Amino acid sequence: MQRTVTITDSATGKTVELPVREGTAGPPVVDIANLYRELGMFTYDPGFLSTASCASQIAFIDGDEGILLYRGYPIEQLAEKSNFLEVACLLLYGELPTAGQLRQFEERIRHHTMIHESLRDFFKGFYHDAHPMATMVGVVGSLSAFYHDSLDIHNPEHRETAALRMIAKMPTIAAASYKHSIGEPQIYPKNDLSYAGNLLHMMFSVPSEDYEVDPVAEKALDLIFMMHADHEQNASTSTVRLAGSSQANPFACIASGIAALWGPAHGGANEAVLNMLSEIGTADNIPKYIARAKDKQDPFRLMGFGHRVYKNYDPRARIIRQACHDLLAKLGAANDPFFELALALEEFALKDDYFIEKKLYPNVDFYSGLIYKALGIPTNMFTVMFAIARTVGWVAQWMEMMAEPRQRIGRPRQLYVGKAQRDYPA
Ligand code: SDX
Repeated sequence: MQRTVTITDSATGKTVELPVREGTAGPPVVDIANLYRELGMFTYDPGFLSTASCASQIAFIDGDEGILLYRGYPIEQLAEKSNFLEVACLLLYGELPTAGQLRQFEERIRHHTMIHESLRDFFKGFYHDAHPMATMVGVVGSLSAFYHDSLDIHNPEHRETAALRMIAKMPTIAAASYKHSIGEPQIYPKNDLSYAGNLLHMMFSVPSEDYEVDPVAEKALDLIFMMHADHEQNASTSTVRLAGSSQANPFACIASGIAALWGPAHGGANEAVLNMLSEIGTADNIPKYIARAKDKQDPFRLMGFGHRVYKNYDPRARIIRQACHDLLAKLGAANDPFFELALALEEFALKDDYFIEKKLYPNVDFYSGLIYKALGIPTNMFTVMFAIARTVGWVAQWMEMMAEPRQRIGRPRQLYVGKAQRDYPA
């Protein structure tokens, strides 16, 4: 028996019965596709608090329980047993790869780590102090100029190649953005290194000296990339889907995702957390900043806290907090003042009635910046790190959408509250 919900317009008495679709887990959805045709009304949900934009098999979040699954696997188990490229394979293709499939996937990624030589010149056009996220938006968007002709987005093989190219080239472009900002020469990828190791090599090695990737740093970066790989229909992923729905070039779609991620309400929060901790300075200033975060007249928010979906502890934050503690201990900085301050801030906030009542917990961005800082990555590169990892989720969700048999352009409507029709003065 088809489950339905019934809506009645009290003004006209007109009733419409809408089908309910149930998923594997999480809330069922009301299919409102026929609502406008049958009732002459749109739904209204700015910010999409109660709106499912698509059906997806890739990630699942239970915000009340603090659960995150990648293709059904709990993030905690993947953190303990997997690695970033295996997770990338899982997110893209739906199953954990065999050892042979993973080797083949890694080889295909390695094949695309270099960028076109003329693309390397693009960075010279930016001021040295350009924010690396601005550089990333520009350079990634320009990839569509290099691969525009060799890409039929209706061809699954072309789509897969574009996806792998994007995953492979993000570290190279990110490292080039960083090198430009510090006036050092760009470093070519070394394909005998791991994905995270290659990024560290391209960011921190110089032509004049040997460079050894620190395995502790490599493992920490690989873990943090896994934590950021995908997160269902967040703002940047929804942006990529909407751009992709117009059948735009996938590189242009990823550039739109990078732009959306940049905002401090989203991926830009990791950079904002470090700036906030610097501003707070010491633990005795915490009450003042907690008071500001609660003051409706004050635009200040506790960065790295709160989440649209998680009304419980973000499971990624818990994993990253422990990884941060372990990394700092290994690096001989167990008493890092910023980490101590972050722990004290978290403890204070989680005991405050305002944060308890509004269910505001640390999110993925609260501790991630502390790991990046410990790895010597500058604050303005933190969101670039997020973008590198989230490129896997963006391309996986884009491929899922483009494979839809009835893929249609996304075109929301509105509630018009402007002027009624009027004539131009005679
Ligand atoms: C990410 O969507 C995703 O999945 C995102 C992400 C991913 O992996 O893709 O998880 C990554 O973006 C994590 C979020 C990073 N952003 C921050 O840490 C910035 C600080 N957080 C907030 O700006 C806010 O919590 C959001 C943007 C994360 C969520 O915003 P919502 O869901 O629109 O919630 P809201 O702004 O309506 O807040 C609800 C209430 C409000 O108070 P009232 O108006 O009800 O009185 O909680 C308050 C807010 O004022 N509130 C905060 C707060 N976050 C929410 N008050 C103080 N400090 C905060 N951080």
